[in-house]
Amino acid sequence: MADLKPLIRDRTYLKHFWHPVCTLKQLEQNSPEGNGPFAATLLDEDIVIARLGDELVALRDQCAHRLAKLSVGLVVGGKLQCPYHGWQYEAEGNCVHIPACPDEKIPARAVTEKYDCAVKYNLVWVRLDRSWDCTEIPYCSAWENPEYKRVIVPDPYSWDSSAERRWENFTDFSHFAFVHPGTLYDPAYKEPEIVDIDREGGELRFKLEPGREMIDNLPPDSPLGSFSYRAAMPYTINLEIHLYQNDKPFLLWTTSSPVSENICRNFMVIAHTDTDAPDDQPVGFQKIVLAEDQPVIESQPGSLYIGEISLPTDKISNQYRRWLRELSEAAVSGEEAFRKSLQTDVIESGESS
Ligand code: FES
Ligand SMILES: [Fe+2]
Repeated sequence: MADLKPLIRDRTYLKHFWHPVCTLKQLEQNSPEGNGPFAATLLDEDIVIARLGDELVALRDQCAHRLAKLSVGLVVGGKLQCPYHGWQYEAEGNCVHIPACPDEKIPARAVTEKYDCAVKYNLVWVRLDRSWDCTEIPYCSAWENPEYKRVIVPDPYSWDSSAERRWENFTDFSHFAFVHPGTLYDPAYKEPEIVDIDREGGELRFKLEPGREMIDNLPPDSPLGSFSYRAAMPYTINLEIHLYQNDKPFLLWTTSSPVSENICRNFMVIAHTDTDAPDDQPVGFQKIVLAEDQPVIESQPGSLYIGEISLPTDKISNQYRRWLRELSEAAVSGEEAFRKSLQTDVIESGESS
């Protein structure tokens, strides 16, 4: 790739966003009392999640003493205890007990960094940099929405790919005929619609109406309908599908958490109205679709490059790339430019919601 330049030069802007790092279930199943610790990596930063007293915390996964991983330790009496010499940390990340010299003053540097941490949609979210405090946990239209009778949070999955490539894959209309023939699409429909795209409320919003006729050639589990996308920057997509088969709503929500530049951990919410369907039915169908995508997306390089060929039918990815680049460059300029890039709406469809 000697002649291709990376599109995004500086990735620090990603630290200003919330990203999920595990499900609540993973945290709770990881230790007998369900309080962690749980190890995660976000943007190459090793993090430990633990419930200390009443608070769920995300701390830098490194003891200030001899740098052992706190996630290998234990939660003891509401403190996180290092596995090596038993230093204990409280919820703010301060060491409060050193067993080897309990009467000595605790060094001021005996601290591990604390990050923003919150639970939403049964997922544990972390924000590495809270200094500008101008981002929120992305929207999921099925949560606490009585229209949906079943809301499922499946186990996450990892791909050897970037979160950017995963996002583009999920919103790419022209790959359906080639990667998902007979599962998501009738391969006869190779030419996708070119849609209006709005930037609104920190999201890219667009709609797609795939041909109704395709339904005859797809399995009954295939969620074909009118697609309405709300994609909160940088990596979350809320895809509401108004199903052609029964006029009911179906939700596919996905967020890709950037473990590193070339690894993403993906979290999903699937919601629907069929109270009789066992949860493994829609989850199983998504697994088939993901198995079709994964080898193709993992064959791409993780980074996005200037110089990749873009067609009119790549409009969604082109707009996404433009905004990512703007956000990255704005963050280098500072808080005001970053807020402006994130919060300025650009309405193409003429119908601001
Ligand atoms: S390395 Fe953590 S207590 Fe020594
Ligand atoms: Fe796909």
